[in-house]
Amino acid sequence: MRKQIAAGNWKMNLSLEEGQTLCHALKSADRPQNVLTILGVPCPYLKSMHDICIDDSICIAAQNVHHEKNGAYTGETSVSMVKSLGIDYVIIGHSERREYQKESNEMLKTKVDLALEASLTPIFCCGESLDVRKSGAQNDFVSQQLKESLFHLEGADFSKLIIAYEPIWAIGTGETASPQQAQDMHHALRTFIAAQYGQDIANGISILYGGSVKPGNAKEIFGQADVDGGLVGGASLKADDFTQIIHSF
Ligand code: 13P
Repeated sequence: MRKQIAAGNWKMNLSLEEGQTLCHALKSADRPQNVLTILGVPCPYLKSMHDICIDDSICIAAQNVHHEKNGAYTGETSVSMVKSLGIDYVIIGHSERREYQKESNEMLKTKVDLALEASLTPIFCCGESLDVRKSGAQNDFVSQQLKESLFHLEGADFSKLIIAYEPIWAIGTGETASPQQAQDMHHALRTFIAAQYGQDIANGISILYGGSVKPGNAKEIFGQADVDGGLVGGASLKADDFTQIIHSF
């Protein structure tokens, strides 16, 4: 049975106090035991949010780590720094970082390696642009992202990953992939993973959908056979909305 996961990605939003209030609200909300809740919070808030959530089965994720272990990289955060705060997850390869920070598949491969070496679980993001989708090449494009950043891993390490499929055209646009589009891509990814690592490993990997997930559409998307939850941006900033999403499995 794959893990069902509701992951939030706050991106560069909320004050410290607003974040704390949100964590307290999620903590006190009734949450199903079988759903793993993860919050991707801004780096300066990692420790504070972790301290609030630690006893309540809400895990905290960093939104990025640097691709070098340490050194003269002013303003950057290393895997060991994140790990030293007690954090267990990190989002790697979000499309906003691929676009604005020009993160390549090759660089993301290094980040994945460093994260695993530090026992941080990567939530690895992939997804195609609207142009790629319109050309019909989305399966090849997303498979290539996985191949170039992840397929060097041994099966035992690959099994530790969480994958998030986030079509760029559906992020923050209000436009969601249809449940069938999400299912088709998730199924294609699982098939692609099975060809590399075998069916057992492919069946065990949680693949999340991200892109305008809301309380009103989460149930139908999460109800698809190969969709194991969501990576949620805007709707994770509101306790009520995110709680409803956590209840949508
Ligand atoms: P939205 O849910 O705001 O579309 O963002 C999705 C996302 O990028 C999560 O990482």
